[in-house]
Amino acid sequence: MIKFTVISTKGGVGKTTLTANLGALLADMGLRVLMIDADVQPSLSKFYPLSQPKPSAGLTEVIVRGEVTAECISSTMYRNLDIVVSDDPEGSLPHWLLNRIDRGFRLRMALNSPTVIDSYDCVLIDTQGAVGPLQDAAALAADILVSPITPEILSAREFKDGTMELLDRLEPSSALGATLGPMKAVIYRQDRTTDARVIAAGIREDFIKLKGRVTVLETVVPHAKAYKEAATLRTPVHRHERKRDGATPSAYAVMHQLTWELIPSLEGTFVESFSGRERVA
Ligand SMILES: Nc1ncnc2c1ncn2[C@@H]1O[C@H](COP(=O)(O)OP(=O)(O)OP(=O)(O)O)[C@@H](O)[C@H]1O
Ligand SMILES: [Mg+2]
Repeated sequence: MIKFTVISTKGGVGKTTLTANLGALLADMGLRVLMIDADVQPSLSKFYPLSQPKPSAGLTEVIVRGEVTAECISSTMYRNLDIVVSDDPEGSLPHWLLNRIDRGFRLRMALNSPTVIDSYDCVLIDTQGAVGPLQDAAALAADILVSPITPEILSAREFKDGTMELLDRLEPSSALGATLGPMKAVIYRQDRTTDARVIAAGIREDFIKLKGRVTVLETVVPHAKAYKEAATLRTPVHRHERKRDGATPSAYAVMHQLTWELIPSLEGTFVESFSGRERVA
């Protein structure tokens, strides 16, 4: 089982969209995927229709019990794709966590539950774009951190400073038995301006200088309306835009490339066919 946490110290960069689309593509490739909505604003929980619209439990139970039980898991309308929904509208979970000495490790511990280990090949955690104990717990639960970064000058600076702070804060946790996974940055929502290309090149250079703490992936996710349209339709973007004319690659192609870079053993695996929504068998 491989665990990814999609994280950024900046809000609105595309974390939820990326988590949902990666999750659905992996599920269509045949992996059993569990998404975890670790944002108190439940955007991922609403991204795809659920088989049972009112889940009996979710993230609160996972964090408070330190265990993922079957009741905490909801199935989406897509085969192989399940979710632990965010159910903390008051935002009290981060406060609860703050008082716990094991706050950094609670989610990591919960993901060791037999329900998760026996039933899933991949866990994908979405986080809130703000520093806090829930974000830290999500970061420490992952094998690999995935961080979308928009190639705009202010976002790029914020990314560099914020990411370094995050790594500096959490890397010492390794001493307590939880190794912080490597971070893979994805240049995300790149438009076709020269400015965006120059900044993207600058981001790559900056991170080469940081000697391997962060790797910038080759795949670039373009700014394209397909991602928004698919979200509106509550459909995975690789299903929504399979082919496309023009210079921008299709969402189908981009999401495959990104998935292969994140999980190299899947390279060459294509989602061949899919038809509408499918209930979990
Ligand atoms: N590749 C893309 N091209 C264009 N628009 C995109 C793309 N990916 C996501 N978006 C849009 O960008 C907006 C922000 O995306 P999203 O909600 O995924 O960000 P987020 O990082 O999860 O935000 P938050 O920090 O609030 O949780 C949404 O309106 C989404 O539809
Ligand atoms: Mg989000």
